[in-house]
Amino acid sequence: MLDKKIIDLLIDTRKQALAIYSNFHVAAVLVSEDNKFVTGFNIESSSYGLTICAERVALFKALSEGIRQFSRIYIMGDGKSFCPPCGACRQVLLDFAPEINVILVTDTGESQKYTLKELLPHAFDEHFLKDSKKK
Ligand code: THU
Repeated sequence: MLDKKIIDLLIDTRKQALAIYSNFHVAAVLVSEDNKFVTGFNIESSSYGLTICAERVALFKALSEGIRQFSRIYIMGDGKSFCPPCGACRQVLLDFAPEINVILVTDTGESQKYTLKELLPHAFDEHFLKDSKKK
């Protein structure tokens, strides 16, 4: 069982989600190496494809505040099931936090922990771009 403080923070953050189209509310809490907590919730656009997930909101907030080293990210979706990060969020997390742990959490405090590399094996990353510049 997770610390109640994390569960409460996820639930409070999720309440603020701007998800009027899907009505699917998601919260993320990103924790830096030096233990700073940065929250994010999903923000939807009337042009649906411009919607941004909770995980990327939290990551971009943290990056724009100068935070660069990350230890873990907690994610809570709606309902009783675990909410794994979408493919786009896995890719962006890999770009900025390849060693991060991803912890999926339910309202009742159950959790599942993964490394990002387990969730995104055989990934494309910056090394491919560097390799191509050598040619
Ligand atoms: N969503 C997230 O915020 N994170 C996820 O991990 C999965 C999906 C959001 C995007 C959209 O606002 C809504 O959930 C339905 O896809």
